[in-house]
Parts: sequence; C-alpha cells; structure tokens
Amino acid sequence: MTQELTSPSPAPQAPGTGRGPGWWRDAVIYQVYVRSFADSDGDGIGDLRGARERLPYLKDLGVDAVWLTPFYASPQADGGYDVADYRAVDPLFGTLQDADELIRAAHDLGLRVIVDIVPNHTSDRHPWFQDPELARQRYLFRPGKGESGELPPNDWESVFGGPAWTRTDRGDWYLHLFAPEQPDLNWDNPEVHAEFEAIMRFWLDLGVDGFRVDVAHGMIKAPGLPDIGHGAQAQLIGAQVLPFFDQDGVHAIHRAWRRLLDGYGDARGKQVIGVAEAWAPSAERLALYVRPDELHQAFNFQFLNAPWQSDALRSVIDASLAATASVGAPTTWVLSNHDVVRHTTRLGGSLARARAATLLMLALPGSAYLYQGEELGLPEVTDLPDEVRQDPAFFRGGRATGAVGPGTDTESAPDGAAAGGQDGFRDGCRVPLPWSGELPPYGFGPGGSWLPQPADWGGLTVAAQTGDPASTLELYRAALELRRRLPGLGDGPMSWAPAPDGVLALTRPGLLCTVNTLGHDVGLPVPGTPLLSSAPVTVDDATAQLPGDSCTWWAI
Ligand code: BGC
Repeated sequence: MTQELTSPSPAPQAPGTGRGPGWWRDAVIYQVYVRSFADSDGDGIGDLRGARERLPYLKDLGVDAVWLTPFYASPQADGGYDVADYRAVDPLFGTLQDADELIRAAHDLGLRVIVDIVPNHTSDRHPWFQDPELARQRYLFRPGKGESGELPPNDWESVFGGPAWTRTDRGDWYLHLFAPEQPDLNWDNPEVHAEFEAIMRFWLDLGVDGFRVDVAHGMIKAPGLPDIGHGAQAQLIGAQVLPFFDQDGVHAIHRAWRRLLDGYGDARGKQVIGVAEAWAPSAERLALYVRPDELHQAFNFQFLNAPWQSDALRSVIDASLAATASVGAPTTWVLSNHDVVRHTTRLGGSLARARAATLLMLALPGSAYLYQGEELGLPEVTDLPDEVRQDPAFFRGGRATGAVGPGTDTESAPDGAAAGGQDGFRDGCRVPLPWSGELPPYGFGPGGSWLPQPADWGGLTVAAQTGDPASTLELYRAALELRRRLPGLGDGPMSWAPAPDGVLALTRPGLLCTVNTLGHDVGLPVPGTPLLSSAPVTVDDATAQLPGDSCTWWAI
C-alpha cells in the first residue's frame, strides 16, 4: 500500500520560540578575522575577495558556518569595531559586491555566513556623531562635574584604559566605554533601535544567516549613570554586574531582535541567528541572553578562561550545561578569538594541551566556535615591535584583553588562564595566517602582511600541515569529520564516567572522551576502540596509556 504524505515539508518550528532542531544548536563556526585571513590585492591587509577564494579550504576543514569580523566602512581606530557606515564595505576590504559574492559563494558550498553587528557604539566619524544636533540625541552627552564642568560626569573607565569620557569643544562630555573614537549610543532613543533593525534587515536581505552581536551586554546603562567607586574597572567586567555592563535592560533589545530574526527567517523558511558576545558574571546570568525569546547563542567565556585542571574544567562544563539547559539553549563553546591570547599560548605554551582542549570542546554538547589559525596550532606572537602595534588599548595604557573579559589579568586570573600574550594586548593573536611557503608572508597575499609574521612559521602553514596525519590541521579535519558522522556528537546528552584524579571521562551516545590534564601518562582499563587522539595512545590487551595533556575519543 502506498503511503500518503500528509506533511511533505519539514515540520514548522514553533514560531518565535527557537525550540526544536536548529542548525546553530551544534554548528561549528569558524571566525574569519578578515584583516588577517587572506589578502587578494597585495596591500598586506586581508579582504573579502581573499576570504572568498579560501572558502573551499573552510569547507574542506569541515566547518558549518563562517563568522566574518567587521568589514564595514571605518576609520579602523579599533580594527573595524568603530563603524562609520554599517551598510558600506570599507575599501580596505573590498566592495559591497565582494560581500555579496562571498555570501553567495559560501552558500554554494553549503556554508552559512554570520556577520558582526556593533550596536553599543559607532565611530566618531559616523554621520550621526558628526552632526552636533543629532549627536546630542543619539549618544550619551553629559555636563561635567567641578566648578566649570572640567571633571568627567562620573568615575567610569574606558575598557581600553583612561576615563570613559571625552570633553568636546562645546564643553560637555560624551561617553565611550572603549576608545574615544567609539562614542556610546543612546539606546533610550527609539531612532537608535529603528536604525539597528534596519541595518539587520539590510544584511539579511543580502543573505546573511545571522549576527554576532558585539558587546551584547552593553547598550543599556544604569539610570543616572552612577559612580562605581572602584578603580581598575576593566578587571570587574564579567565578574560583577556594572552600571554600564550586563544591565537587565539589554534583554528587551535582544527580545526585539529575536522577533525580527524569527520573523525574517520564518517568512523565508530559514533560521537566522544572533550570537551574543556578552561578559556576564555567572553561567546563570549568561544564560539569560539565550532564553527562548532572546538570542540563540552566547559565547561561553567561562570555559575559555578555565585553567587546565580537571576539576576546574569539569565544574565549568557542569555549570554551563546546567545554566543553558535551564533555558532550553545549547552551550556555545570557544577557546580562542581575536581578543584573547591564543589557547596554544594561554594554556602554558603547550600545543599538546591546546590540541587536547580542542578535542574536549568538540566532544561537548552544543555549538563551537573556532578562531582562524587555531587549526594550525598557531601560538600568540609575543615579540611584536611597538611601532607595528595597532590595538587601541596599547596606546591608552589599558589592558585590552582584561578589558573585554575577566581572567586575562595575570593577578586575578585563575592559574594558567593568563599565561603568555604580549603585555595583555591583542595584536599577537591577529597576525596574518600562514598558508604556504617558507618565508613571510607565507602565501597570505601577493604583498606583505600588516603585522609581521614570525620567521619560523614555515612548518605551520596550511600547505606544510596538509596530509601530515600528526599535524594539528589534520587533527581538526578528522575531529570535524567524526563530529559530522557520529550522531552522538553535537547537541544531545552527556554524562561523566569515573576517572582517576586529573583525568576527565565523559560519555556521549556511542562515544567516550577521556582527557588527561596531567603532565604524565595515566593508565586506564581500555574503555573502547580509539577513534581519534590528540597524542598517540598506547593500547595493550587490558590497559590504555593516556599520554600527558591529551584527549582521546573512544567508540563504546
Ligand atoms: C570586540 C573587540 C572590540 C570591542 C569594542 C569587542 O568585544 O570583540 O575586538 O574592541 O568589542 O567594539
């Protein structure tokens, strides 16, 4: 008997709730820091055409989506996070046509595309800020304190160092939580809301599949802009709610955006997402950003900042999973990005640990973000000469990495979390990628590279690692291939299995993942058939020797 299909199309999702299957729940998303990924025109700066030409590499690597950091018109006071025109591509990176072609080419390969949106602040060159009348309504201007208004309106500090206020020629002050070239917007003004919704629709119409929301914990400031009464405020970010970060009011904005994203996607039969870059003091507060009617994902920086210790890793994983489960969201794991010390260096300068940490991350339930170059095992570059540095925090005496999140400050970070880096600044993780060849610019482009690449990166290029089964690149390729193939990975249940001190053992359906965080071998009864390991495991009849600082996936 022939069966009649009563429901020929996929079951519709509950509108607006985000429950049910979603591509983003277990996607592996690769961060392209455009300026440093691939340069097509020889000016030493990566661009959109360069990125498009390298998309087959990302497809082959096995990721599901690409997140592009800001490529919009910008004076580049903060690597493009100072946007002067949200609907234009900066000539440094190409044209709108290039963006369109990149999005189409990615889709042709089955890769989704997420772009950055920067709503907390604009560039001071944005037309709104350039017009004194508009500026007063759409940014945060206040009179100064002191007899003639010569003192800033409150004691807030810029996360890049120095006061968060700059005085204008007119005598009043404007707020900038980041560089003075990045004035904070006034989100009490409905025109600001309307403009960002229009910007989102502009990029959605070009086909993007989502937005990474920059400083998603910013935007709303406590009424009256109260003093904090504490210096070194950058170190408090993500450790406590501040009058300028993680205010409850931000959630109304995320709810409105979720309605927009769901409405847009539902009308076109696709799922478009928002991922929060939010520094919240606890897993519970972070989970508020991914409630069913808010954004889809939020980077788990608590995991990123966890030291390489089994107990600490286990408790951060448990807390993250419990918090996101309580709101029905997946956890979004990340180990590296353009703001923090690369995890090879951060985890004690140990490539072995970095490889193990990555395999652990990819075995956990949820989604994961990879930062370009981590698949090559690139270390942080820590000897950049001052004259090439571009991180605005370097020029303001701040500590940018500590500023955008806790735990990167050497004094307060958990043991191991802050190791490495060059004085806490961010250029060292942004050095252009090595693709091929023995000498800089290692195939990055036909010219040079905007930051100098180390002379010893010849062995780390994509070309050098391709086909070498011991290479980090092939480890990533194999892990991503297994992740696609094994139904038990990605979203779904996880539980802990008994393991000796210093070792973690977690099970997923059909799979066991062991992590030896100790610096020496640990023997275990053979738990299954080894599938993939970050370091060679020896298995005899009854015992498996897990090498120090390693992670192994076993079929069970
Ligand atoms: C971005 C940084 C940027 C800052 C200000 C962040 O969180 O990731 O690179 O400097 O926002 O926009």
